[in-house]
Amino acid sequence: MATYITEPSHTFNEYLLIPGYSSSECVPDNVSLKTPLVKFKKGEEPAIEMTIPMVSAIMQSVSGDRLAIALAKEGGVSFIYGSQSVEDEAAMVAKVKAYKAGFVKSDSNVSPENTLGDILALKAKTGHATVAVTEDGTSQGKLVGIVSSRDYRVSRMGNEVKVKEFMTPLEKLITAKAGCTISEANDVIWDNKLNSLPIVDEEGRLDSFVFRKDYDEHKKNPGELLDDQKRYIVGAGINTRDYAERVPALIEAGADVLCIDSSEGFSDWQKFTLKWIRDNYGDSVKVGAGNVVDREGFRFLADCGADFIKVGIGGGSICITRETKGIGRGQATALIEVCQARDEYFEETGVYIPVCSDGGIVYDHHITLALAMGADFVMLGRYFARFDESPTAKLLVNGNYVKEYWGEGSNRARNWQRYDLGGDSKLHFEEGVDSYVPYAGPLKDNVARSLSKVKSTMCNCGALDIKDFQSKAKLTLVSSTSIVEGGAHDVIRKESGPISTEQ
Ligand code: IMP
Repeated sequence: MATYITEPSHTFNEYLLIPGYSSSECVPDNVSLKTPLVKFKKGEEPAIEMTIPMVSAIMQSVSGDRLAIALAKEGGVSFIYGSQSVEDEAAMVAKVKAYKAGFVKSDSNVSPENTLGDILALKAKTGHATVAVTEDGTSQGKLVGIVSSRDYRVSRMGNEVKVKEFMTPLEKLITAKAGCTISEANDVIWDNKLNSLPIVDEEGRLDSFVFRKDYDEHKKNPGELLDDQKRYIVGAGINTRDYAERVPALIEAGADVLCIDSSEGFSDWQKFTLKWIRDNYGDSVKVGAGNVVDREGFRFLADCGADFIKVGIGGGSICITRETKGIGRGQATALIEVCQARDEYFEETGVYIPVCSDGGIVYDHHITLALAMGADFVMLGRYFARFDESPTAKLLVNGNYVKEYWGEGSNRARNWQRYDLGGDSKLHFEEGVDSYVPYAGPLKDNVARSLSKVKSTMCNCGALDIKDFQSKAKLTLVSSTSIVEGGAHDVIRKESGPISTEQ
């Protein structure tokens, strides 16, 4: 006979925190959101610790190199999506590792033989006014000049005029040598009143640009996550099929941590993948696994050697797994049970395996609830898809700016490996949808606002760090009528306005 769990499983929305005593020390500025990313032994430090408890979902519409850099600047980690070729994924990881704050790789490049028409088309495409002119027209070619909007007058020149006739040639440019520091580059910019400074290597090939307008951005981000060579920390998704090929390429490219991307982690496929990694790399390669929704699933992946374990089936905003397959569990209930299993495992073995709550975060306070329930960090897809830095298009739909967001199990992503049960290599039915999310601006502002809410609630509960919060948090289930009471009610709202981008 089947096993019945008679208690219903609950979602974040069905819980509230009850405030506790807050001492005068409990102010948001004193709150630390530091959290471990990978497992560690009692009394030891984790090999990777994040400054904020947020990672971005392993999805085509979320985690590209640009978002990875923006999130690492704030102290979180992106997992670059694995549903692309090994070469493309490794190249994205390498791009994050090669990024030096303030040194921008040129994305607008032409050769001297191109025309003004090409420059205008490039400007329309990239939105950037400074174009590098290199011998072969590539971003690493020998620099021969630059074109900025001061070099041409559209009303007086034909589109067919060649770049070599109006560019500012190299002899008239001030450049700096690759290897200089950002403050040295900025000094050259200020001393010579430049808008942009090309950085060139010993052979005169273009390395990057430093722009005057970015000056403020170069100021250090206090929470940024750097490796021991001062490069941004980045994660990468892998699957249970091509790991023997993908893992070495990602490690070679510099990935700091990997994560098996799968809709269901309580399987032999994850065991084989983890075993292969341990056999080939020992503990030097850090790898998360999942997703699971109960104690048994956690225990299985812990015993297989996972460095962190992800919780969540069916709660993602673009996910239709529960409707399609009838599997899953309310995210709050799943998380509470898995975190209990994590604590028991720690008691028993002295090994702490961080738990990640993946999917279903709608409001900022859901992040707070997930942490209170025991999550060490949360993984978010929809949340990050809304920002400038996500890899998808920003569109105007019915008067509102939106960004595209699609599931890995949708026909658009066709990530069959995520749903692989060892059969043939294709997606047999969809488990995700293609959608829009309201555009919400830059990552930095949004993350700061979300986390200020998290810190504020932690203070209400008398906690100054996540572990403290977890031990002090008092949670209550709420009835459906009290959920209605929780929103504005019995008043006539003055305006509904456009779709809110606030959480
Ligand atoms: P969100 O933050 O609620 O948008 O959820 C993101 C999470 O949904 C991801 O981290 C994945 O675990 C999960 N996910 C991504 N694509 C799909 C899909 O197509 N179907 C089901 N779940 C998905």
